[in-house]
Amino acid sequence: MELKGRKIYIETYGCQMNFADSEVITSILKEAGCERCERVEESDYVLINTCAIRDNAEQRIHRRLRDLRAEQQRRRMYVGVLGCMAERLKQRLMVEEENVSFVVGPDGYRRLPEIMTRVAEGTKVAETELSESETYSDIVPVRLDGNGISAYISIMRGCQNFCAYCVVPYTRGRERSRDAESIVNEARGLFEAGYKEVTLLGQNVNSYRWGDVTFAQLMARVAEISPELRVRFATSHPKDLSDELLATMARYGNICKCIHLPLQSGSSRMLKLMNRRYTAEWYMDRIEAIRRYMPDCSITTDVIAGFCGEEEEDHKATLEMFRRVGYDYAYMFKFSMRPDTYAEKHLRDDVPDEVKGRRLEEIIKLQGEIALENNRREVGKTYEVLVEGTSHRSKEQLFGRNSQNKVIVFDRKDAKEGEYVKVRVTDCTAATLIGVLV
Ligand code: SAH
Ligand code: SF4
Ligand code: F3S
Repeated sequence: MELKGRKIYIETYGCQMNFADSEVITSILKEAGCERCERVEESDYVLINTCAIRDNAEQRIHRRLRDLRAEQQRRRMYVGVLGCMAERLKQRLMVEEENVSFVVGPDGYRRLPEIMTRVAEGTKVAETELSESETYSDIVPVRLDGNGISAYISIMRGCQNFCAYCVVPYTRGRERSRDAESIVNEARGLFEAGYKEVTLLGQNVNSYRWGDVTFAQLMARVAEISPELRVRFATSHPKDLSDELLATMARYGNICKCIHLPLQSGSSRMLKLMNRRYTAEWYMDRIEAIRRYMPDCSITTDVIAGFCGEEEEDHKATLEMFRRVGYDYAYMFKFSMRPDTYAEKHLRDDVPDEVKGRRLEEIIKLQGEIALENNRREVGKTYEVLVEGTSHRSKEQLFGRNSQNKVIVFDRKDAKEGEYVKVRVTDCTAATLIGVLV
C-alpha cells in the first residue's frame, strides 16, 4: 500500500497553534507523496485537527465526525482525528466514533505517513505519545489558505502552567522552545517569498528560551530581517511579561504595537483559584508598564465567566478591570469544566449555567461599549496599514490592519494587496475603522 498520489483533506479547529500544526502536517504528507484537496468528496483521507479547550469545541467535532459517515458509506475514505482532542481521548475516540481509523496527538505527526499506510491495510492506529523535545523545527510548513501576506510561525510547544481550568498542559505536553536559528530562517524565507507579516506563536511566549536567547532577543532578530516585515506574537502570560520585552517592542517600528494579555478574571481571589500566579494588582502594574513603554499599544484579552466559586463581587471585579484597562478586543468565554484538570478534581462547578450566561452577557455588552469608545478616539488619526484583501462588503474597498491590529476599511483607489499604505480614519463601528487613503 503506497501513499503516493493519495488525496488528503485537512480541516482545522481551535487556536492558531493548530493552524500552524496543520501546515506542518501537510508538509509531512506532501513529502510522503500525498496531494492536498479542497473537498471531502475528492479525498482518500480526511484529517480533522481538533481542539479540546471547552466542551462545545469537542461537541462540534463529534457532530462533524457523524456528518462524515454519510460519505464513508458511499465509498472508501479514512477519517483521522489529530490534535488536542485526539490527545485527550486517545483510543477511546475510536470506540465512541467507529468511523475513525486513526488518532494522532500533537507530537506524533512525523509518524502520519506510516500510520496512514497501516490504516489502508486495515489496522486502526492510535499514536498519542507526548514528547519532551519534538518541535518540528526542520519541517518547512506548507502554507494553507493564506493570503501570501501573513503567516504563523510556531516558536514553542506545550505548556506547563497548569491553570486550574485548562486542558492544554495535558493535550500538548511539556513546554519546549524551538531552535532560534530555525525560527529566524523560517521568517527570512517567508519574507523572501513576499510575506509581510509573521506571528510568533506559543502558549506563553514570555518563557521562550533557546540557550541564552530570550523571547525579546528572538523577536529582535526576527524584526531585524527587514523593516518591511511586521512581527506579531501570541500569547503573553501576564505573570512574566517583562520590561525587557516591552523595551524591545518599543525599539522596533516593525514590531506591532499590540499585546494579547489574557486576564481570565479581575478578582485576585479567582486568579488564585485558577492558579494564574498573578494578582489583579500585578496585572494592572503590567498594563501601566505597557502604557509607559508604548502609549499607542493596543491591548486585548481573554476572560472566563463563572469559574468555580465565582461570586457576584468577583464578577464585578472583572467588569471593573475591563473598564480600567479599556481593552481593544476580548475573547470572552463561559467556564466549561474539563475532565482531569485541577478544577475537575478539586473544585466544584457551582455557578449555575444561567448565572454564567448572564455574567458573560454583561461582559460582552460592556466590552462592546469600550471597543466603540476606543475606536471613536481613533477618528482623525493616520496609520500605516498593511493591505490584506478586498473588503467583504464591497469590491470597491480594501481592508488591512494597522500596527495595533485594528481592521481598517477604505476605498481602494490604486492600492494593492500586500502593500503598506497610509490611511486616515474617518469613521468607525465597534469592530472596524473606516478610512481614506492619504
Ligand atoms: N495560553 C493562553 C490561553 C490558551 S487557551 C493563556 O494562558 O492565556 C485560550 C483561552 O481559552 C484561555 O485564555 C481561556 O480564556 C479560555 N479557556 C481555557 N480553558 C477554558 C475552560 N475550561 N473554559 C472556558 N474557557 C477556557
Ligand atoms: Fe492553559 Fe494556562 Fe497554559 Fe494558557 S498558560 S495554555 S491557560 S495552562
Ligand atoms: Fe484548543 Fe489545543 Fe489550541 S485545546 S485552543 S487547539 S492548544
